[in-house]
Amino acid sequence: MSIKGFRGEILSLSHDPAEAPEAVRYEADGLLVVEAGRVVARGAFDVVCPRFPGLAVEQLDGLIVPGLIDAHVHYPQLGRIASHGAQLLDWLERHIFPAEKAFADPAHAAGVAEEFLDELLRHGTTSALVFATVHAASVEAFFAAAEARELRMICGKVLMDLGPDGLRDTVEEARAESAALIAKWHGRGRLGYAVTPRYALTSSDEQLAAAGELLAAHPGVLLHTHLAENHAEIAEVAARFTEAVDYLDAYDRFGLVTERAVFAHGVHLPDRSCARLAETGAGIAVCPSSNFFLGSGMFDFGQAERHGVRLGLGSDIGAGTSLSLLHNGGLAYQAGLPGGYVLDPFRALWLATGGSARLLHIESEVGMLAEGQEADFVVLDDAATPLMARRTAGASLAERLFALQVLGDDRAVRRTYVLGRCAWDRDGGRK
Ligand code: GUN
Ligand code: ZN
Repeated sequence: MSIKGFRGEILSLSHDPAEAPEAVRYEADGLLVVEAGRVVARGAFDVVCPRFPGLAVEQLDGLIVPGLIDAHVHYPQLGRIASHGAQLLDWLERHIFPAEKAFADPAHAAGVAEEFLDELLRHGTTSALVFATVHAASVEAFFAAAEARELRMICGKVLMDLGPDGLRDTVEEARAESAALIAKWHGRGRLGYAVTPRYALTSSDEQLAAAGELLAAHPGVLLHTHLAENHAEIAEVAARFTEAVDYLDAYDRFGLVTERAVFAHGVHLPDRSCARLAETGAGIAVCPSSNFFLGSGMFDFGQAERHGVRLGLGSDIGAGTSLSLLHNGGLAYQAGLPGGYVLDPFRALWLATGGSARLLHIESEVGMLAEGQEADFVVLDDAATPLMARRTAGASLAERLFALQVLGDDRAVRRTYVLGRCAWDRDGGRK
């Protein structure tokens, strides 16, 4: 078995810093020992190195952090990023549904899946919870591409029997295609499956019930959908689901609110929904750049923290404006301020690593760069631009991390490692 050491400055979060003050794990001169793709030791170089005589050690120049984990992103929307002119419902009709129709073609899906994974690695993202399209072939293409790169990824076929012409399935197709995809891909290597109704408005009651049955029949899979993103959307949900006490309840009635549920956005939630999320262990993928871009609003971190709602961080491309979870962390800080919430840079890093990992139920494998975990990590350059170099020179760790979040993006990702192997190099491209 190959064993190798990586020496450098190492930072991770072992808990949510909002819950545990000792959450920061940091070695100014650290050593990460990787064997067969897993971390077997980590600590101060002087302490750990003597335990491994003859170890080959590579010096890494930069700040080593766990591979970033995108808790909500749409791979088929990569090419529609920065589409001008409307809030959610119009944007979907005008830009997104036409783009997703093209994924009926498996060759198109395969090409975009490759480009998308290249972009994730360029941005330091090594795991993600991913929307495909309504076409089963789009999921096949994504999983095949992720498997070839040995990436830990979760994806699912979109259920939308009330979708627009050319982008609709039926209840029976939703049931049969999801079950077949789960049987083929869930738990295969590093891959996992998420039952993925698009949102409440594009699925019939029968299809939402079928989603609940799929979840109950396959206890390991996730539920992935959108929740309370936009005022017009919320009004339409209230008009249709007249029995439901709020948007979350429209899902709850079909058995979709469980500890394995990941809801994107949750920008406008009544306290009752937050309490119910906390009670069930379901959580939210916070998507700040998307929420700013579509004018959806700003996530209420204070409310979520008061209720103890689990959170992760999502780029939500193509509504998001950057795949960078550094950049989205900086925007999360900006989203918190108007409501009086000051997001700590270490907590922003937690959201993009351990927080997302916990939300996606992959925290035993990734997210903390801890002993026993898979060795997915990123080498960050806090002097990637002249302005960043100026801001970070002589600064504290917290200030450097904050500058990476406010000023950084893919330019600040020097290298991305997957299972201890360099998969992306800023200067050399894909490995
Ligand atoms: N709600 C339903 N579909 C979508 C989507 O594709 N993107 C976003 N941001 N919200 C949605
Ligand atoms: Zn989304």
